[in-house]
Amino acid sequence: MIQNPSKVANEYDLVAEEYAATFTGEHEKKPKDQEVLHRFSKEIGGRRPVWDFGCGPGQTTKYLKDLGIEISGLDLSEKILEEARKIHPEIHFRKGNILDLEFENDTIAGVVAFYAIVHFAEEQVVTAFREIFRVLQPGGIFLFTYHIGEETIHLDVFLGKKINIDFMFFTTDFIFSCLKENGFEKIEIIEREPYPGVEYESRRAYAFAIKPVVRKSL
Ligand SMILES: C[S@@+](CC[C@H](N)C(=O)[O-])C[C@H]1O[C@@H](n2cnc3c(N)ncnc32)[C@H](O)[C@@H]1O
Repeated sequence: MIQNPSKVANEYDLVAEEYAATFTGEHEKKPKDQEVLHRFSKEIGGRRPVWDFGCGPGQTTKYLKDLGIEISGLDLSEKILEEARKIHPEIHFRKGNILDLEFENDTIAGVVAFYAIVHFAEEQVVTAFREIFRVLQPGGIFLFTYHIGEETIHLDVFLGKKINIDFMFFTTDFIFSCLKENGFEKIEIIEREPYPGVEYESRRAYAFAIKPVVRKSL
């Protein structure tokens, strides 16, 4: 079911402090996160700009910044952005909607989006991938994560706060075909088991995809 993006942002406003306290520094406990972020950083090299879409309190933004990437964060929740700016004053964070990005075509070298699509219905995932494809430079890299499955989990309480939000899981077949249909190439999806005691126990996936470089024929 489609959730209105501004309603999702309002729900994140309610848990912003708790979300930041829980997830700041989380990559330290997740070796596969570290591996893919190091790989992303190597593949991006000196290209810029790089954006973290649906950045939350900025833990992934910060991880990549520490690897030497010139990166900024974008999120729709004002309060999450306040937390991100408080914790990482050296990083630029701005408000924006992944489903309607205020960036010119072909302008961004790399996009990361960790669990940023978890509140999207399938048709919104299509829109998000179309938007991200549009703003990426040819050769640009898209790295994102999702929970693997077919279920939708409804939460009335999250991190100790009353909330009303759905978390959507996706099959890798759906994500793969959606990326392909939106024009991405070199799609690689890495699946892993959950880290018990560290995170919600769902299977996770990391997806790498590239916007093709169109070569003009002579
Ligand atoms: C599950 S959290 C992930 C946050 C962070 N990337 C992480 O890994 O913890 C989802 C984030 O996406 C943001 N978000 C949801 N819908 C969005 C949209 N349409 N545009 C931008 N951000 C959105 C939420 O405000 C929230 O911060």
